Amino acid sequence: MKPITLGVVGAGAMGRGIVQLFAQAGHRVRCFDAAPGAAPKAVEFALGMIGRGVEKGRLTAGSFSAIRENVLACPQMADLADCDVVIEAIVEDLEVKRQLFCALEAVVADTAVLASNTSSLTVADIAAACRHPARVAGLHFFNPVPLMKVAEVIAALRTSPATVDTLCHLVSSAGHRAVVTADQPGFLVNHAGRGLYTEGLRILEEQVASPADVDEVLREGVGFRMGPFELLDLTGLDVSSKVMASIYEQFQHEPRFRPSSLVAPRVAAGLFGRKTGEGWYAYDGDTRRAPPSRPVPPLPTGLTVWIDPGASGHDGLAALLAGAGAALGQDAAHADLCVVQPWGGDASHTAAALGLDATRVVAVDPLVPLALRRTLMLTALTSTTVRDAAWALLAADGVPVSIINDSPGFIAQRVLATIVNIAAQIAQRGIASVADIEDAVKLGLGYPHGPLAWGDRIGGARILQILQGMQAETGDPRYRPSPWLVRRVALGVSLLTPEAARA
Ligand SMILES: NC(=O)c1ccc[n+]([C@@H]2O[C@H](COP(=O)([O-])OP(=O)(O)OC[C@H]3O[C@@H](n4cnc5c(N)ncnc54)[C@H](O)[C@@H]3O)[C@@H](O)[C@H]2O)c1
Repeated sequence: MKPITLGVVGAGAMGRGIVQLFAQAGHRVRCFDAAPGAAPKAVEFALGMIGRGVEKGRLTAGSFSAIRENVLACPQMADLADCDVVIEAIVEDLEVKRQLFCALEAVVADTAVLASNTSSLTVADIAAACRHPARVAGLHFFNPVPLMKVAEVIAALRTSPATVDTLCHLVSSAGHRAVVTADQPGFLVNHAGRGLYTEGLRILEEQVASPADVDEVLREGVGFRMGPFELLDLTGLDVSSKVMASIYEQFQHEPRFRPSSLVAPRVAAGLFGRKTGEGWYAYDGDTRRAPPSRPVPPLPTGLTVWIDPGASGHDGLAALLAGAGAALGQDAAHADLCVVQPWGGDASHTAAALGLDATRVVAVDPLVPLALRRTLMLTALTSTTVRDAAWALLAADGVPVSIINDSPGFIAQRVLATIVNIAAQIAQRGIASVADIEDAVKLGLGYPHGPLAWGDRIGGARILQILQGMQAETGDPRYRPSPWLVRRVALGVSLLTPEAARA
């Protein structure tokens, strides 16, 4: 794309990042803010960040001075008259944004594109009062803008394809990935990101595991950069609780997005997270206080262990437990400890279905690689002696163990199946293309895999089994599988397979 003249209205946290991104991509940038002094400060900030590239040898002094010539702080909105595109990043208030878009239409040419960086408003609502809604779209960046290499181009119902194209090319010209999404609650990234929070909170609500266990299993055992409780503490529960409530309301109380009743009392008590010194964790300044850890019990001797022959990780578990000194037995009735590995089922039902004595049964999550972390789940009746023996055996080689109460799908299975199912439903609803869903989640949420490809890695049939197990046990419609998933599993094809009429 040839350099264009770009206006940025709103010179706060997002506006200054947007100025930096497009200035360093070689566009002419005009920045305006209603607060006196805010625009020059943002331009100074953006140029300061770009200037670091000169110090680090990534940018020549000549290129930097060309960029500097191209960036202007404007004292009035009328100075945006020659802009080809204007990106709005002002306060998140529908009326204020509507008024701004009307005012902008009076300033720019009829051909100029107007884009809003809104996170939660409906773009059609912002465009409603405009004379030319076809040139209005959403352009949703993530914080910090230069580092988060994805932007959502939101095509509202009246947005023209040409407007979408212009914004996609603009985003690509700055080296970011543009993903196109429908004007639906949470757009793509915040919609796809619901599963981690809702299921994490549900696991806590059911007393399955502590916030630290949930976070550790997901971070160390599954590959998330942060677990849901760490993320909530970072963002602040005051902010996150509003997003959770707003998406649930906007989706007409879709059970998949039902917020947890654990949240409101914590917000009322001021347990917002890092910013108030206490959230799901306690903090000393910026440092998280380590939660108390229990010492691993002594390794038992002379123990016979039976492992369910149908367990998907049977051989790895057998090697691990034998290496820790356990004798492997073939007869569950005479074993001191029985180990099962359900997919989508809990330990108690699995014990009952296999005719085992539940006091001697534990379950180990087959989804979490044994080399990374082990989730040890108890039946409702597992004895303390059996729990401690299993814990010591599983921890003997130094790999950490999380001990949790009974739950269909442990921690990892529940959370991943929920994430895959929500992504499948985003695809089913045509909110975005499969490729855009995958890239947006990797780049916008930092997940190690796109959600549908992740479902394929685990196995679509397994994901379905987990969801059906959770739905059968809890009766909660939040776990009902998306038709997208059900059909692709029935046909034995990848979850990335697009709808035939759209392919
Ligand atoms: N902060 C984030 O992490 C984030 C991420 C994605 C999207 N967003 C969205 O981006 C937008 C801006 O967020 P922010 O965090 O940068 O806000 P901010 O409060 O840091 O900055 C907003 C700026 O807009 C200016 N402003 C307010 N009303 C104005 C008007 N009528 N005309 C001109 N300037 C005006 C303010 O003076 C302020 O400088 C919001 O819509 C927000 O929802 C924020």
